[in-house]
Amino acid sequence: MTSRLLPTTLATTLVLLAAAAGRANDLEGNPIRYSETAPDNVVSRLQQKIDAGEIELDWDEEFGYLPSLLESLDVPRSSQALVFSKTSLQRSRISPRRPRALYFNDDVYVGYCQNGDVVELSAADTKVGTAFYTLAQTDVARPRIERRIDGCLICHASSHTGNVPGHVVRSVFPDAGGFPKLASGTYRIDHTSPFERRWGGWYVTGTHGDQKHLGNHVYKSSLPRDEPNDGLNLTDLSGRFSTAKYLTPHSDIVSLLVLEHQTTVHNALVKAGFATREALWYEKSLDEALGDSPDELRESTRGRIENAGEKLLRCLLLCGEAPLTARVKGTSKFAEEYAARGPFDREGRSLRTLDLQTRLFRYPCSPLVGSEAFDELPDVVRDHVLRRMHDVLTGKDQSEEFDHLTPETRREILEILVATKPSLPATWRR
Ligand code: HEC
Repeated sequence: MTSRLLPTTLATTLVLLAAAAGRANDLEGNPIRYSETAPDNVVSRLQQKIDAGEIELDWDEEFGYLPSLLESLDVPRSSQALVFSKTSLQRSRISPRRPRALYFNDDVYVGYCQNGDVVELSAADTKVGTAFYTLAQTDVARPRIERRIDGCLICHASSHTGNVPGHVVRSVFPDAGGFPKLASGTYRIDHTSPFERRWGGWYVTGTHGDQKHLGNHVYKSSLPRDEPNDGLNLTDLSGRFSTAKYLTPHSDIVSLLVLEHQTTVHNALVKAGFATREALWYEKSLDEALGDSPDELRESTRGRIENAGEKLLRCLLLCGEAPLTARVKGTSKFAEEYAARGPFDREGRSLRTLDLQTRLFRYPCSPLVGSEAFDELPDVVRDHVLRRMHDVLTGKDQSEEFDHLTPETRREILEILVATKPSLPATWRR
């Protein structure tokens, strides 16, 4: 190549790069190709079994496919959380007298409305981050769980989710019909949200001492907002609506806390995975444009990936978690059943062990490190997160952000992980 040609080559490279960056921000472009990529998650696998005739979904006169669907996906009924604000897809079906019910486990979330046209699902996905589905609530010979895209992403890949396909939890000030009083403001909720901002538009059953929250209340005025006092430490919803219309009479406060933690982590996992895939794709476009393929990742690529990994690490270790200032106790078997899922080490400890006095987990490290969504992250970002987690847990990293983890807690988390997570790198076992 002569030097005379260089400017043209450079210009071409720059154009290519601009195009690459532009497409990378778009879910339909490379490397995500959201709609055209076949999802791979617990729901797509269930549908394959239904297609193969290995599993049948049973129809229930009262709840349609909901009970059978939950059972097939191993989603506990005790995870039920009830939301009565008209903030989601089947708005017209939702009100304080007919709340929407949500159920979840580590891999999937299920939404149900009384007399709803569909059951809604969102699943952690190894290929597309989060995949969305609906199952029509009509009794047919071969029910099909249909993948849904545009109708869901309007809300589920928005500023509420950090612009990746993900989960939404909001806290609003609903009126008697369930309409959010937008003039009062709304909050996006994650595990860092203070207790007093949570659960506007949700039912909450359980006790929580003198901590205040916004749940179990319909708001009369927008501004100044009324001070809720009828919704605190509520343990029975039967005066509010017909609880017999739901699988359980609970909207357990512990289930809500776990839901809010999990959705935070699931979204962070998708963000880290997408940022990494985009950085690698950009690197590959650079290689092609420059006709060059270095052995090591370019520093800028590595920087982008590590940056994404650092955010995920902080999320997994619950940095910035809003503290509990009094004991929280639910009304259902949720806490017990959730903790019983393990896995446990020989001393009976598990990342799922709950604290509920000062924070959610006894050992603040998300149980989702044991999930497929974590294990299936691109190697380079997962390896970075694990290396850095090891630094924190062994005390090598003493940054202030991890001050909530005492030396003893770090050691305990390390021991539990080593005992329960077989896929850890060998360095962890020394
Ligand atoms: C108008 C905005 C909106 C649309 C459209 C929407 N959702 Fe949601 N979704 C929400 C909000 C807000 C929540 C949080 C709970 C609530 O307020 O009801 C939510 C929660 C959920 C949940 C519980 C866990 C999670 O992922 O946050 C599922 C499952 C769900 N939606 C599925 C779907 C599916 C499937 C579609 C498309 C067929 C869809 N949603 C379309 C707003 C929307």
